[in-house]
Amino acid sequence: MKNFALIILLSVLIASCREGNQKAISVEKKVAETSQIQASDTTQQEGQNLFKQYCISCHLTVPDSSKKDKMLAPPIVRVVQHYKGTYSDKKDFVKAVVNWANQPNQKAVLMPGAARKFGLMPPMPIGNDNLKKIANYMFDADFGLFGNMNHKATGKLQLNDGKKWTLEKNDVDQVHQAISLLRNTNIKDVTDYQQTGKKVFSAARKILLNKKYEGKTLQQVQVFFHQIEDDMHHLMSVKTRAEGEKYRKMVLKKMMKFDSYFSSKE
Ligand code: HEC
Repeated sequence: MKNFALIILLSVLIASCREGNQKAISVEKKVAETSQIQASDTTQQEGQNLFKQYCISCHLTVPDSSKKDKMLAPPIVRVVQHYKGTYSDKKDFVKAVVNWANQPNQKAVLMPGAARKFGLMPPMPIGNDNLKKIANYMFDADFGLFGNMNHKATGKLQLNDGKKWTLEKNDVDQVHQAISLLRNTNIKDVTDYQQTGKKVFSAARKILLNKKYEGKTLQQVQVFFHQIEDDMHHLMSVKTRAEGEKYRKMVLKKMMKFDSYFSSKE
């Protein structure tokens, strides 16, 4: 990085010599820009180092199929996708990651599938300064292709030999409550759209974390909520009413299929 900065500096200097004095100001500007790049790069580097020190033992950065069986936690690029979907502002994102790492908590889980598969993460109270640097790194890091790629659903939604999958009444009721909120065409505030998204999410989380569901039933609820996931996270973090309407409709359309595949026990 140092060499790179030097080369930029030199070429700017050479260019400015050639073109005379009027360029002097722009050289100063370039120097300032260069050192700024360096500064943000150092913090980013620090965050990355801390991540390697404290988090990478469980979280790979991106998925690696050769290590699939040895995975202890979701790859961090997936964590970032979920957190950015819910907390699009960097400040909120950082706060959420810091809070989480200090005290992982069932109620705050954004990745219920992972919590179910790997168990809850142990607390990592390594100091808020360190955690902030890590969270900043996570937000800014470029994960390349994986950053844009959606993870694939693990199967197709289907009936259970022509019958619906049975879930507990409580769980089904909660989904129905969420659907009736989604049907409300009279939402006034952006926060109400976000609240509606959160209601859908808590219904989904409750089902995905319910230990009574196993095997095919679990797989089917996972497939069902998987296809809603992105829209649901968008709804939870919309910034305008227009956006809220768009995602309300999208989530509603998908949630309406719930009763075609699942029903309650009684
Ligand atoms: C001992 C293993 C382990 C270490 C070390 C670890 N994690 Fe995790 N982490 C997990 C597991 C397992 C999950 C998935 C289950 C869950 O959500 O609790 C997870 C999930 C997460 C999530 C998503 C939580 C959610 O909302 O579902 C975040 C954010 C996270 N980890 C951040 C970190 C950061 C930052 C570090 C380093 C400071 C770290 N983790 C270190 C095991 C670990």
